[in-house]
Amino acid sequence: MSSVADPAPTSPADAVIDLERQYLLQNYSRYPIVLHRGKGCHVYDLQGNRYLDLIAGIGVNALGHAHPRIVKVVREQAALLIHSSNLYYHEFQGPLAQKLAEVSGLRRSFFTNSGTESMEGALKMIRAHGNRNGDGKHEIIALDNSFHGRTLGALSTTGQAKYRKDFEPLLPGVRFVPPNNVEALEAAFSENTAGIVLELIQGEGGVYPMSVEYALRARELADRFNALLLFDEIQCGVGRPGTYFAYQRVKPEILPDIMVAAKPLACGLPLGVIQANEKAAATIGPGMHGSTFGGNVLACRVALEFFDILEELLPAIQRVGGYFHLMLNELARKHGFVREVRGFGLMIGVEMDIPGKQMVLDAMSEGLLINCTHDTVLRFLPPYIITEREVDTAVKVLGKIFAKQKGAIA
Ligand SMILES: Cc1ncc(COP(=O)(O)O)c(C=O)c1O
Repeated sequence: MSSVADPAPTSPADAVIDLERQYLLQNYSRYPIVLHRGKGCHVYDLQGNRYLDLIAGIGVNALGHAHPRIVKVVREQAALLIHSSNLYYHEFQGPLAQKLAEVSGLRRSFFTNSGTESMEGALKMIRAHGNRNGDGKHEIIALDNSFHGRTLGALSTTGQAKYRKDFEPLLPGVRFVPPNNVEALEAAFSENTAGIVLELIQGEGGVYPMSVEYALRARELADRFNALLLFDEIQCGVGRPGTYFAYQRVKPEILPDIMVAAKPLACGLPLGVIQANEKAAATIGPGMHGSTFGGNVLACRVALEFFDILEELLPAIQRVGGYFHLMLNELARKHGFVREVRGFGLMIGVEMDIPGKQMVLDAMSEGLLINCTHDTVLRFLPPYIITEREVDTAVKVLGKIFAKQKGAIA
């Protein structure tokens, strides 16, 4: 509770921040702005300051803010039926699952509310698969530097000590291997392996893509040892890489047994999915899994509308993403502290020799929202509707901030 000695908040934004300080778990270290509304690729804070949004709710607001078609279906559907539970059918889960089957190549869907919840269900599939196929087939291979979510199962496969350390012991039987190391992957597989989970582009880990060779080898080894291959496409999927899913960039073509997605699926409404082939789907029988909110009417309707728009956007994601990549590389050439520009489509990381935290704050004061992950990687996950002009604006601001950094170092 606030004490009598606390000064009264001086602005509506301060009042919001003050109230949160008093009543919320203090787990987030938020930036000191209060967002109020958005339009296209821009958001506005309570004071009316405008920001170009290159993080889009951490890769969620795929169509930016207040997209007219999304606003229209939300309005319509909210007035009809928002939620029904999974006790009954509603009109939109089936068509959405059909669409997901078409675009993913994996036939069956289970709807969830978040990324981590999708991971939990997928890990249960792996566990059930192992249990059906032999004593001791409990092991799951996961990658160092990965991120799969905050719930206990997902955390157990997350290969970063900083997220795990306070919650151990976690699930036993997870073997971590270094990413992109084929020999280590081969050595980790055995008859006890029930599944393997990986992000084809590690997101929180600093935007690190897996090589094609690595992805192909993971598929082969999973087949050889009758293990389920699970791709976490929560950050790197659903259009962001310029294809529907990151695994569709791999040639020759591969399919996982299970794929999990979430973030952009319903353009800001909570919706996740586990997408599985028949083999993986068969591990879950009646009563073995469920969710009260998962596949909610409103979220599914919005996701269907989104997929209707997404197909036409994929070429633009590739084009504008390529342009952004190019412009960042040009900037990198002028600034020695930039080590590498990585990523695909509209998932881009700029790795630097120096911490990025202050740059994120500097960008914010210049009207640009960006993010820094792994201390030294600036991460860009803009809305899919971003234009070359908006990229130019962003790169100009970044140039200014980078120049300031150079000055500070000299
Ligand atoms: C690759 C990946 N997996 C899982 C998650 C967890 O998703 P959520 O925060 O929706 O639970 C995230 C979130 O950033 C992610 O990037």
